[in-house]
Amino acid sequence: MLVAVPKETFPGERRVCLIPADLPRLAKAGIEVLVERGAGVAAGFPDALYEDKGAKLADSREELWSCGDVIATVRTLGASPECMEADLKCVRPGQLLVGSCDPLGHPECVAQWAEAQGSLFALELIPRITRAQSMDVLSSMATVAGYRAVLQAAIASPRMFPMMMTAAGTLSAARVFVIGAGVAGLQAIATSRRLGAVVHAYDLRPDCREQVESLGGKFVVLELETGESQDQGGYAKAMGEDFYQRQQQLMAEVVAESDVVITTAAVPGRPSPRLISKEAVEGMAPGSVIVDLAAERGGNCELSQPDQRVEHHGVVIFGPTNLPSEAPTHASQMYSRNVMTLLLHVTKDGKLTLDLEDSIVKDTLAAHDGQVHNARLRDLLNLPPLVPVAAPTASEATTDEGSQPGNNG
Ligand code: NAI
Repeated sequence: MLVAVPKETFPGERRVCLIPADLPRLAKAGIEVLVERGAGVAAGFPDALYEDKGAKLADSREELWSCGDVIATVRTLGASPECMEADLKCVRPGQLLVGSCDPLGHPECVAQWAEAQGSLFALELIPRITRAQSMDVLSSMATVAGYRAVLQAAIASPRMFPMMMTAAGTLSAARVFVIGAGVAGLQAIATSRRLGAVVHAYDLRPDCREQVESLGGKFVVLELETGESQDQGGYAKAMGEDFYQRQQQLMAEVVAESDVVITTAAVPGRPSPRLISKEAVEGMAPGSVIVDLAAERGGNCELSQPDQRVEHHGVVIFGPTNLPSEAPTHASQMYSRNVMTLLLHVTKDGKLTLDLEDSIVKDTLAAHDGQVHNARLRDLLNLPPLVPVAAPTASEATTDEGSQPGNNG
C-alpha cells in the first residue's frame, strides 16, 4: 500500500501529517510513503530526513494523487476548501483520503467527495474510546492549543504569572480562569499552574472537578442545574439559551476577578456556547486578557473575532483558530502518531482492510463506496439511514465476490 503525503496548502498551516520517525513502523507493516517535496519543512522535517527513513519524494500534488492508494493530510475538504476543487478532479474511485476535514461543519464537502467515489476517514470523527485514544487528533491538537493559549495570554498580559517576593516588593500571582475543562482546558490549567498562576476552572460536567483539582486548579461551583450535561461519547450536550444566559450571569463575577480568561467550551457540531458577554468584558480590569479557543465556531466570548486581536475597555481578546500550527514540530509529531496508528489499524498484510463492523472504522469512515457513510453526517445532510447490505449467500459470494460488504482492499 502506498500512502502519499501532500504539502499542506491552507494559509499559515505549518504542520505535516506524517513525520520521518514514524515511517519505519509503517514500512514494517508493508506501507510505503511518498512525500511531496518540502511537505515537512515548515514543521522542521526536511526532505532528506524522509529519504533517510525510506520515503520517496514527489514533485507535485498531481503525482501523489496518481500514485497513492491513500492520501494522508492534516487539512482537507471542508478544512482546506481552496484545494478541494483540485483534489476532486484527481481522486480515483476507492482512493482513501485521511485528514481533518471539518465534517460536522461542512458535511456537504463529504457528500461531494462521496459522489466522486472517494473514500474518506474524517479524523475529527475518531470515537473518544480507550481503544482509539492513540488515534485521536482532536485531543492531540487541543493539548497543543491549550498550552499555546496560555503562552499567548502570558505574553500579552502586562503582569507576570508567578507570585514573587523580591527586594522591590511582593508581586501577586496572576489569576487565570479556564472555562471548559476538556482536553484543551486541562492543558491550559496545567500550563498556567507551571507558570505560577492561581487557577480557577469551570466545566458543566461536574466529573471534571477531580481532574481540575489534581492539576492544582480550584473548581468553580455555579448554582446551575446541569442535569444530563454529557452524552454517551463523553462530550458535552448543548443546553438551552436560558441556561447559557444564567451561566453568563453567574460567571461574570469570576471573570471580573481574573487577569486572564481562557475559554475552551465546546459542544461538538454546534456553535460555541456564548459564555462571556460584552458587559462581562467591561467588568474586567484594564490589561486583562481573554484567549477564546472557540472563536472559529462563533466564540465563547461575545467580542472575539477569528484570528483577530480585539481591544475593548482596555481588555485584549484573542480568537486564534490554528494554535497547533504555531508549535508545528510537536503538533506534527502527535498528529503523525495518530495517523500512523489509524493506518496500522486498517492495514493487513500490506493491504488496506476496512472492517465496517469495527466501531473505529464505522465512526470515522465518512465516505465510502459512493455514499456518505457516517450516520451522523447522513442525518445532517437529511439523507436516509444507510441500509446495511445483507451478507451474500455462499453461491452469491462465489459469483459476485467484488460486491461483498467489507471487501474494500
Ligand atoms: P473537549 O470536548 O474535550 O472540551 C470542551 C469542554 O467544554 C468539555 O469538557 C465540555 O463539558 C465543556 N463545556 C461545554 N459547554 C460548556 C459550558 N456551557 N460551560 C462550561 N464548559 C462547557 O474539547 P477540546 O478538545 O478541549 O477543545 C476545546 C475547544 O478548543 C474546541 O472549541 C476546539 O474546537 C478548540 N480548539 C481550538 C484550537 C485553536 O487553535 N483555536 C485547536 C484545537 C481545539
